Amino acid sequence: MNIIISGALGRMGKTLAEAAKASGTEVVCGVDTALREQTAEFPLVKTCEQIPCQADVIIDFSVAENLNTLLNYALQTKTALVLCVTGYSDRQLRDIQEASRQIPILRGANMSFGIQVLAQLAAAAARILGKDYDIEIVEKHHNKKADSPSGTALMLSAAMQKELGGLSPVFGRHGKTGERGANEIGIHAVRGGTVSGEHEVGFYGDAEEIILTHRAENRALFARGALRGAAFLVEQPPGLYTLGDAVADLIG
Ligand SMILES: NC(=O)c1ccc[n+]([C@@H]2O[C@H](COP(=O)([O-])OP(=O)(O)OC[C@H]3O[C@@H](n4cnc5c(N)ncnc54)[C@H](O)[C@@H]3O)[C@@H](O)[C@H]2O)c1
Repeated sequence: MNIIISGALGRMGKTLAEAAKASGTEVVCGVDTALREQTAEFPLVKTCEQIPCQADVIIDFSVAENLNTLLNYALQTKTALVLCVTGYSDRQLRDIQEASRQIPILRGANMSFGIQVLAQLAAAAARILGKDYDIEIVEKHHNKKADSPSGTALMLSAAMQKELGGLSPVFGRHGKTGERGANEIGIHAVRGGTVSGEHEVGFYGDAEEIILTHRAENRALFARGALRGAAFLVEQPPGLYTLGDAVADLIG
């Protein structure tokens, strides 16, 4: 598999180039509007229109505003597209859906492969344990994070809600809340210091607890997840996929 990196000079773009090199994936071109000089081990260009060669897949870690240009390029060249950028509008999400009728597209706001595995394990545990166990999610992030709870905590909750109908999230608890309701999934956000990201899903039963935890130590894991997603995507027909599909494919 060979790839083009969109947003190649950004934090994630550079991390992805390193991860690609470590995994033996060839980067044939990098695209970044901030290009001033050739600083990479592969050719860099400023816009998609200047890409000089074909690739199996483009991995995008640029900005949401770049979507139209990317989709045009990918549709014209029939190149698979891994979209890792966050912050798309509803209109852009519809454009992605429409384009995926012609090319394979994988989109994910959390490309950590481990988090996808955690979501599948949590869903399986919820299915097996049923409603006799109280489910509580605790997520921790650095003190600069602007939103709570994390989108990933919501994704984990949704994965378990899908398995066990009738559950609904309860965000934090304060005051005279009374007994815990049987249909609650508690979601709690801890903020402090420089924590890269931690998600814990706890199943609390009668005299026993099962805790599943994922800890992100740095951004390299998102780059590795994007590469795994790309490897899955190049084998797929046109359609819209998630990294969760790639994990399910591996688990079988
Ligand atoms: N899905 C995930 O798991 C995941 C993980 C980390 C970051 N992200 C997302 O990836 C994106 C990039 O994050 P970052 O921290 O690397 O940001 P960054 O600002 O460091 O990098 C973005 C790069 O894109 C370039 N760029 C801007 N407009 C462009 C265009 N039109 N064409 C090509 N390049 C363009 C910028 O010059 C910059 O170098 C953000 O949306 C972030 O939320 C997603």
